[in-house]
Amino acid sequence: MKRVSLTQYLVEEQRLHSNIPASLRLLIEVVARACKTISHSVGKGALGDILGSANTENIQGEVQKKLDVISNEILLEANEWGGHLAAMASEEMESIHPIPNRYPMGEYMLLFDPLDGSSNIDVNVSIGTIFSVLKAPEGMTQPTEADFMQAGSQQVAAGYAVYGPQTMLVLTTGNGVNCFTLDREMGSWVLTQKDMQIPEETKEFAINMSNQRHWHPPVTRYVDEMLAGKTGPRGKDFNMRWIASMVADVHRILNRGGIFMYPADQRDPSQPGKLRLMYEANPMAFIVEQAGGAATDGRQRILDIAPQKLHQRVPVFLGSKSEVERVTSYHQE
Ligand code: AHG
Ligand code: MN
Ligand code: MN
Repeated sequence: MKRVSLTQYLVEEQRLHSNIPASLRLLIEVVARACKTISHSVGKGALGDILGSANTENIQGEVQKKLDVISNEILLEANEWGGHLAAMASEEMESIHPIPNRYPMGEYMLLFDPLDGSSNIDVNVSIGTIFSVLKAPEGMTQPTEADFMQAGSQQVAAGYAVYGPQTMLVLTTGNGVNCFTLDREMGSWVLTQKDMQIPEETKEFAINMSNQRHWHPPVTRYVDEMLAGKTGPRGKDFNMRWIASMVADVHRILNRGGIFMYPADQRDPSQPGKLRLMYEANPMAFIVEQAGGAATDGRQRILDIAPQKLHQRVPVFLGSKSEVERVTSYHQE
């Protein structure tokens, strides 16, 4: 089999569709290289002194793990000098990170969840990195948080790396979704799945059932109907999976179909759900739609949401289209 590297894929994609200018290609390659470095650290585990807590809190009030902090640093350092970015934003930083003056300012803005699934780090279960790329507004000189407040539909690229039994990079630039596997010996990303499509037929759902008593009625109804199985309104048995790493759950759904849900519930209304719009929901929604699936907050398309704050949370329903449409319609009834 002829191997296609990430670089070759990006160059040929530009030739075919003119959607990946050289500066965006550099950006994607730099992010991919940073993910390679993170993957290397992840793989060392206790031997690399990367497990455990960093004993600090991030802006979400979550205790940071060492690997949250390390991954954030790796992504910042890798992306500062290339001249392709104007600013970055991260789950692990309260405010945006403009590119230092000593480097040229580029036309893109990068957002990331440096390490997704932090609770799985210390137990050797799949974790990941999620990223989203926006264009800096025309005429911007000094980037501010307001420049990042663009709907997800404005993303020019999005992707994630999953650090599992294999390290993979799943990428979209708005022309379908492709998956690259890290060749650890060669240190290169090799195209291993072209134009991924989420299977439409599914019998699998993903939700944290321990929150069931807090759910709103549409979610309760939707899940109850699946739990009722063959003799219930859905007429088939469903299976459940919950990895507690959004990256790993989404990766399964991309390959095998299903629906992922992190709904808002009846607890604190100022915290609608757990996941963050700008660097978790938006990039995943872009990928899922590009693979033929759907992503909503229960009422509207996630990619249509006008953001208000860098770290805002949003309810998430994503995956196989008909399932997402069903649970969304239950919210509208
Ligand atoms: P992060 O580690 O970046 O904070 O994200 C964790 C998220 C997401 O990856 C996952 O789906 C969800 O939290 C798991 O939440 P529960 O602990 O409620 O299962
Ligand atoms: Mn996350
Ligand atoms: Mn994270």
